Amino acid sequence: MGSEGGATVCVTGAAGFIGSWLVMRLLDKGYVVRATVRDPGNMKKVKHLLELPNADANLTLWKADLGEDGSFDEAIKGCSAVFHVATPMDFESQDPENEVIKPTINGVLSIIKSCTKAKTVRRLIFTSSAGTVNVGGQQLLEYDESCWSDVDMIREKKMTGWMYFASKTLAEQAAWAAAKENNIHFISIIPTLVVGPFIMPSMPPSLVTALSPITGNEAHYSIVKQCQYVHLDDLCNAHIYLSEHPEAEGRYICSSDDATIYDIAKLIREKYPEYNVPTKFEGIDENLRVVSFSSKKLRDMGFQFKYSLEDMYTGAIETCREKGLIPHSTEGHANGNI
Ligand SMILES: NC(=O)c1ccc[n+]([C@@H]2O[C@H](COP(=O)([O-])OP(=O)(O)OC[C@H]3O[C@@H](n4cnc5c(N)ncnc54)[C@H](OP(=O)(O)O)[C@@H]3O)[C@@H](O)[C@H]2O)c1
Repeated sequence: MGSEGGATVCVTGAAGFIGSWLVMRLLDKGYVVRATVRDPGNMKKVKHLLELPNADANLTLWKADLGEDGSFDEAIKGCSAVFHVATPMDFESQDPENEVIKPTINGVLSIIKSCTKAKTVRRLIFTSSAGTVNVGGQQLLEYDESCWSDVDMIREKKMTGWMYFASKTLAEQAAWAAAKENNIHFISIIPTLVVGPFIMPSMPPSLVTALSPITGNEAHYSIVKQCQYVHLDDLCNAHIYLSEHPEAEGRYICSSDDATIYDIAKLIREKYPEYNVPTKFEGIDENLRVVSFSSKKLRDMGFQFKYSLEDMYTGAIETCREKGLIPHSTEGHANGNI
């Protein structure tokens, strides 16, 4: 099927890691893009969007907040598709119920209402998370779209990022029910850990996790221990592919690689020996098995992944270095911590 370049689409959370790359790819394809951000006047946060190729002609910024009902009405009115990418990603929140969980659930419900009111929206594409699939419940070696995280267990265990996992699971479940009720064509895309080169100016939340073997941020080792990965460009291309595909239905895992923390440490050590990445991680078994997320459903729709795990890590590390977000070496740092 052909591209729908020329059509007007909305991207929420457009200034973020995934949002900004998705906006870039949509502009490349000739789409007219309405990008929502919370603070369009903050040049530090939006300059990278305004400087994109085709932005002058085809990009507009709209102010909208997930915490305010009706906030997205104007940006969505007249759009043929909406990519709902925005989410609060604050793992350190002091008030997770009000700062993370409530805005994530109420935000997607408010966006569904905006789509219903607009009457122009053909499809709503929700960027979900692997955290809706494999957290807290029965631990498997392979997950597919039928699996859901266990929110009661998440709330009980309160592992690193628990509020984020709970927020995404509850939001996606609420969205399925509301979309059905309002007759909105809703699909969800489930990325695993997203890594790669990027255009946002600050440190992307997922790279705090992905690069933790370099920075020594041990709180994130539990996530990287047995993790799955997708390249940012593959993920954004999958968003556009599924938004255009006439038969897209339901949930789609989007993940190309599985690795243990030892595989990641080896990959980084071999490419960047100057980072002193550890060879042993206390309390983590070296013979750990990989746990995989199956993208069979997405591949069966004809989507092809273009990038390797090495492309993801070299792209992310090179961009972080260029932007001064990580040092060029950790030699001389005690324990490799930076
Ligand atoms: N990166 C990953 O590895 C990964 C993996 C799986 C799923 N995801 C999903 O991908 C999406 C994007 O994540 P990301 O990695 O790009 O994170 P990000 O860089 O933090 O982007 C999230 C964006 O959400 C916006 N946002 C936060 N709170 C908001 C609120 N109350 N109202 C409106 N906007 C708000 C922020 O917008 P402002 O610019 O206005 O501050 C930010 O730009 C999320 O839905 C996340 O769950 C990410």
